[in-house]
Amino acid sequence: MFEKVTAAPADPILGLTDTFRNDPRTNKINLGVGIYKNEAGDTPVLRCVKKAEARLVEEQTTKNYLAIEGVAAYAGVVQKLLFGDNAAIIQEQRARTAQSPGGTGALRIAGEFIARQLNSNTIWISNPTWANHKAVFAASGLEIKEYGYYNAETKDLDFDAMLADLAHAKAGDVVLLHGCCHNPTGIDPTPEQWQQLAKLSAEKGWLPLFDFAYQGFGKGIDEDAYGLRVFAEHNTELLIASSFSKNFGMYNERVGAFTLVANNADAANASFSQVKTIIRAIYSNPPAHGANVIAMIAEDEALYADWLVELAEMRDRIQEMRTLFVEKLASRGVSKDFSFIARQNGMFSFSGLTKPQVERLKDEFGIYIVGSGRISVAGITKSNIDALCDAIAAVI
Ligand code: LMR
Repeated sequence: MFEKVTAAPADPILGLTDTFRNDPRTNKINLGVGIYKNEAGDTPVLRCVKKAEARLVEEQTTKNYLAIEGVAAYAGVVQKLLFGDNAAIIQEQRARTAQSPGGTGALRIAGEFIARQLNSNTIWISNPTWANHKAVFAASGLEIKEYGYYNAETKDLDFDAMLADLAHAKAGDVVLLHGCCHNPTGIDPTPEQWQQLAKLSAEKGWLPLFDFAYQGFGKGIDEDAYGLRVFAEHNTELLIASSFSKNFGMYNERVGAFTLVANNADAANASFSQVKTIIRAIYSNPPAHGANVIAMIAEDEALYADWLVELAEMRDRIQEMRTLFVEKLASRGVSKDFSFIARQNGMFSFSGLTKPQVERLKDEFGIYIVGSGRISVAGITKSNIDALCDAIAAVI
């Protein structure tokens, strides 16, 4: 039977990492997958995570199953990060959160919930978007439509195109938005644009689904939640897929969360009971470690303060690399203007490099970036930046 199965294409992001691993060159550089590297080129366990893990191992008394929705304290922590302490949504018990295996797991729960429980089967995603979005929502049988997002000329948000395309979204259609640090462009709506989108969404009856994977990598925890919180003021129903892979550096622990916000507590509870049915049939209940660590950090004043410091260190180092990258390209006489890179948010930069240039960077220089031209700035360090800029100057 299996001889009839044809090979699937490699994943555009994780497949690239596989190729990178097998590349024997010692000077190779991986700027494909979004993983933070420190100045030494390592992806360390955060200090606050190490401390919480030690305490957890000491205090842990059982490996019993978690509830279908995961660690209870973690759900509360997630909601505070999303909506802010003492948010009305939390007090009115209109939000329910299930721990999920990573942000991807949360998106898949969202896809299943939309497909099984809501009247609309249509989801609007930005063009471009994270390479896995289409696959995740297609797996739930949703119809995928795209809205314009990026203006390649101005290297900025194409807000007019976004509005023009979303004018075709019907009441009940789901509109996927990146909470902050848009992946892959690094360009987010301005506060005014968020306001406009949130009002439009409420007027038209869209169901907003936020993919929130980089909170704290743009400007800060509260600043990066601005768009979501504006939507929460105008829209009584929302879905959110959170990931803590990046901001807690817990990539391989798969810590994410699916949150739904309903009109009232009863509707939230009924919907959440369906979410639990979905989870039970996919992975039954989540693994405990990552969520316990995050709950412990968030509920301990000192550890939480440590986390904010470490998050700021990561954010500041990436910003420093952005500035240096622009300077170093200019100093090599590259005539193309790359100053837009310093204005983008988060881990990624949509470099504007073409597919053939991306191929040459890989083949001739051992530099791996995603085919769309997306560079993970979080992987640039003072030790690899010169080689990177030399190579880019050579291929342009
Ligand atoms: C990325 O976009 O590089 C990350 O979100 C990792 C992934 O799973 O693709």
